[in-house]
Amino acid sequence: MTSSKKILVLAGDGIGPEVMREVAKIVNWFRAYRGLDVDIAEELVGGASLEVHGVPIRDEVIQRAHEVDAILFGAVGDPKWAHVDFNLRPEAAILALRKELDLFANLRPAQVFDALADASTLKAEYVSKLDLLIVRETVGGIYFGTPRGIETLPDGSRRGINTELYTTSEIERVARVAFDAARKRQGHVCSVEKSNVMESGLLWREVVTSLQQAEYPDVTLTHMLADNCAMQLVRNPKQFDVIVTGNLFGDLLSDLASMLTGSLGMLPSATLGPLKQDGRRAALYEPIHGSAPDIAGQGIANPIAQILSFAMMLRYSFERDEDARLIETAIENILNTGLRTADIMTLGTARVGTEVMVAAILQEIKRLS
Ligand code: NAI
Ligand code: MG
Repeated sequence: MTSSKKILVLAGDGIGPEVMREVAKIVNWFRAYRGLDVDIAEELVGGASLEVHGVPIRDEVIQRAHEVDAILFGAVGDPKWAHVDFNLRPEAAILALRKELDLFANLRPAQVFDALADASTLKAEYVSKLDLLIVRETVGGIYFGTPRGIETLPDGSRRGINTELYTTSEIERVARVAFDAARKRQGHVCSVEKSNVMESGLLWREVVTSLQQAEYPDVTLTHMLADNCAMQLVRNPKQFDVIVTGNLFGDLLSDLASMLTGSLGMLPSATLGPLKQDGRRAALYEPIHGSAPDIAGQGIANPIAQILSFAMMLRYSFERDEDARLIETAIENILNTGLRTADIMTLGTARVGTEVMVAAILQEIKRLS
């Protein structure tokens, strides 16, 4: 029997497939024992697709991506293809998906597990219990605005041009994602721009403020200039709940925030498209890390970012908050036992590979459920 919901699994290349193969065991357990009624399709992307089809992503796969309820993405970036034309590189697969599906809101939670509070470069007291969410606009702003380019002036000198553009609707839709997320968290949004020196930032502040007053009076809203926000994230990151910001500032601030938590191998993300008439939205879930060619094929990659990405899928695409929390609690418990992949190992902990880590987490999920 076919289900009404569909997940598209795109493992990619490098550590993508070896991590996904194990994480699929958790996905399938939720299908078998927690009533997650979904069909699963798998397709090749990135280096894996280049090997077989000669392109990083086929049109059929993009078409398929449009039809499913959620995409679970691994990673792409096999350096074997680094010399080829930019739109034929493995990374073109993820860029094409974001663009074609209008995946405009990138959600990056930075959560610190107690067992790893000493893994950050910041003192444990500043990061322990940290749980913040950055919502970054991903298909607009200065990375896409026109005019852009490099031009030669009459005097022979050259100038490079990029333009920050944001429309009311672009600001509103990403702010809505942030307010909705805040309602399920601590109910606080901090909107970040440079309204002191940029008109696009001024409009950003106006639109976010009006939306909060009209539709989200239950969520508190504060504003912060981006440079101050960078400083505050390091000074006192626990003051934040949800941060919403544009493409450029979000790029910088989310990388900064991710390092508060310790390891790249721990961090998931969700990228959401517009809400459609039928109440659905395109959504892609992927770890923040890349395909880690330096450790690919060794079975030692940390699978937790991929598992947490699946948990985000349960929460955001399938409204299964309880299942998402079940996964998060299981991971927390397993980390508390001292089990570690190489990237998060400290003195006195036990080192395991991808397969054993996933098996331990799945065992704990079963025990808790
Ligand atoms: P990377 O994230 O692949 O690796 C950076 C470092 O972190 C490496 O030392 C790697 O071994 C380690 N690492 C990453 N994930 C890990 C995990 N799960 N467990 C343990 N260690 C882990 O970034 P890098 O090396 O800069 O990029 C490699 C390729 O991946 C590039 O071609 C890049 O373009 C691509 N990339 C793809 C992304 C995506 O698919 N969305 C995102 C970032 C990079
Ligand atoms: Mg970046």
